[in-house]
Amino acid sequence: MNFSKSLILWYLQNKRDLPWRNTVDPYFIWLSEIMLQQTRVAQGLPYFLRFTQAFPTVFDLAKASEEDVLKLWQGLGYYSRARNLHKTAQQVAFEFNGEFPKTYTELLKLKGIGEYTAAAIASFSYNESVPVVDGNVYRVLSRYFEVETDIASSGAKKEFAQLASELLPKGKANLFNQAIMEFGALQCVPKNPDCGNCVFNNSCAALQKKKVAVLPVKSKKVKVRTRHFNYLVFSDEIDNTLIQKRTQKGIWHNLYEFPLLETETVMTEKELLKLLQNQQFVANEVLDIHRYNSETTTHKLTHQHLNINFWKIGVKEKLENGIDWESVKKMPFPIVIYNFIEKERF
Ligand code: ADE
Repeated sequence: MNFSKSLILWYLQNKRDLPWRNTVDPYFIWLSEIMLQQTRVAQGLPYFLRFTQAFPTVFDLAKASEEDVLKLWQGLGYYSRARNLHKTAQQVAFEFNGEFPKTYTELLKLKGIGEYTAAAIASFSYNESVPVVDGNVYRVLSRYFEVETDIASSGAKKEFAQLASELLPKGKANLFNQAIMEFGALQCVPKNPDCGNCVFNNSCAALQKKKVAVLPVKSKKVKVRTRHFNYLVFSDEIDNTLIQKRTQKGIWHNLYEFPLLETETVMTEKELLKLLQNQQFVANEVLDIHRYNSETTTHKLTHQHLNINFWKIGVKEKLENGIDWESVKKMPFPIVIYNFIEKERF
């Protein structure tokens, strides 16, 4: 039996029952694929269920406020996905009358839909013969066929897409694409795959040549930047605090946070006091300062490691633009801040 047939057979026997696999509705498929980028199924699934319940149609999502969308997305990370998702929903709802385009080429023209997502929707919803190429596909193909191309190189996507499209069985793009991704997610996993129990253990080139651990080849290591965030958690005489919206581009765009002091190194209480004297955040007199957390919280993103400290700053009288904690809790925050709020205040 050839690779594609064996793969599909394996899939039919081993696939997980996932809600986006029981539909061809492009809205649900699109939603799931955006959520599952850089996210495991176990983590993405509850979000998918909550989103489809809150926004059963693309019109509901389009009409929602960005804040509501970000709130539901809270904790899933890579928040630009949520903002783009919302914009694409508006484009589909208001420009296309709620109908997703029906071909790969037309889907690609939508904002926030790249090659991978267009191929996923085109194949899963319309069974168009286009290959999906994601991290799973790179891994499975590079190992099975011993492809040593650096997957971070510029030509890699084209080369793997070409190989995958040669493997696509006629009329079965939907099955093949789901199968190869599922195989990468469950069997041909990045670390220590169980090759002894694999349907391809007689034909996989990497296994025969003992190269499973070195394929796929990926060169460019991302440069990680370390940043120090000091969040100022003000508290006035009626226990109100201050929050602000992160309007600058970059991480956490349009999410909320406490007033932030970013420093080059870890900051002591003394240094904070000095900075607060030079840089007036509030008109109120400061009564006391202490750090909430005994250990600095480290939050790891793909390109950045954030060292985060939360400082309680008690102030006299009422804060201008103060907000109560019940209202704070309803706003969309980066998960690391939300966890702090939950732990310290609720
Ligand atoms: N990861 C990305 N897309 C997926 C899908 N459709 N099913 C399971 N895992 C996925």
